[in-house]
Amino acid sequence: MDSADNCLSVDQVRADIPLTKEYIYFDNAATTPVPLPVIRKMEEYLREYCANIERGAYSIANRVTEEWDKARNDVARLLLKCDPKNLIFTRNLTQATNIIAYALGNPPLTVENRRLKSKNPLINWRKGDEIVTTIVEHHSNILPWMRLAYYKKAVFKIIKNLPKTGLITTEAVLENISSKTRVLAFQHASNVFGTVNDVKSIIKAVKEVNPDCLIYVDGSQGPGHMPVDVEDLGCDFYGFSGHKGPLGPAGTGGLYVKKDIIDELEPFELGGGIIVDVTEDYYELRRDYPAKKFDAGSPNILGLIGLGEAARYVSRIGLKRIHERERNLTGYLLSEISKIKGVEIYGPVESELKTGVVTFNLKGWSSHDLCLALDEKWRILTRAGYHCAMPAIRWLGVDEAYKGNVRISFHYYNTFDEIAKAVEALKQLAS
Ligand SMILES: Cc1ncc(COP(=O)(O)O)c(C=O)c1O
Repeated sequence: MDSADNCLSVDQVRADIPLTKEYIYFDNAATTPVPLPVIRKMEEYLREYCANIERGAYSIANRVTEEWDKARNDVARLLLKCDPKNLIFTRNLTQATNIIAYALGNPPLTVENRRLKSKNPLINWRKGDEIVTTIVEHHSNILPWMRLAYYKKAVFKIIKNLPKTGLITTEAVLENISSKTRVLAFQHASNVFGTVNDVKSIIKAVKEVNPDCLIYVDGSQGPGHMPVDVEDLGCDFYGFSGHKGPLGPAGTGGLYVKKDIIDELEPFELGGGIIVDVTEDYYELRRDYPAKKFDAGSPNILGLIGLGEAARYVSRIGLKRIHERERNLTGYLLSEISKIKGVEIYGPVESELKTGVVTFNLKGWSSHDLCLALDEKWRILTRAGYHCAMPAIRWLGVDEAYKGNVRISFHYYNTFDEIAKAVEALKQLAS
């Protein structure tokens, strides 16, 4: 859709997001508003085929299962360019990371002589093995790995030799990788610095040094904001949130797992809907559709059907167009706020290294007070504080003086006029 003239315009998207009439919403990195066609799709489910998936034999049960499969299909193909059979539906990015951290710590089970039996684990943990992540990660890409390292007595290593712009460089990663590195986890784009990391080059370089190192990418700020092709990136796992870039509802997300690996993973949740057989002694998980063995229990059908529609919606805008517009908005904001006396900007100042995230502080203001002032007087909604990345904020050195920083984050529907208003407001607060 990217090149087509009938892509959704900024005005059309703003008309689909009523909140834009009342507020200047600049907190898209936390969660985005949901456009009306996505809301309507969820309403359609609630009104017309509100049944459970893959369970009933009656007509609306078939309809909901079809919609459910279509949603997974479109999310996989449009947002990640992967086979839907390799896309696990999740609640968010956080659950995606936890699914992988659990599976790498616990062997898959199989059935032998009508008894459960452990298969070989994906990682045979040995003393001195390493799990590596970076100082600029969100807590969701630190805590699950810290706990896994603790349980497996592995070395937990955090890459810190990064430039203060927060960019994850191939050189810095390579300095921290060895033949003992079992897992590397790092982000595609940063919610604190706005950096877009060269994921493909980093993965290629790491796999050359250590082909067995499994690589997890936190894509929370990726799909929906830019074109993503997970197979081309070469990662083993890629998690994302549905309620950020894709403009989907909260409580949705996904996890891509590479083809040869997904069969070797044990789901951390077990229950209904994922089995071929259960007796008093064993259970046998379905193998016909690898991602679906992670769907234990009745899932968030409403939200995930909404996410499918959201994937179609952002594709109608065009993912390349979204990325380009966010970069242009970012470039404009950076050039304007850098002129304000007392403003300190974090992350790269070159918009081509960035997604639509800008963080800063204003001398004399704590990050929270500044955020409150922008809302109270101008209805400009920003985010202040640690952005769920305390180690990153401490490493940046803005903990004591500002209690974090202020973040303005865009999506396609934000405008240059909204930025001009925010810049004017900041000028008044700075004087
Ligand atoms: C880079 C990054 N990772 C992880 C997360 C966590 O996402 P979720 O709360 O949807 O699990 C976020 C949320 O802001 C994020 O920006």
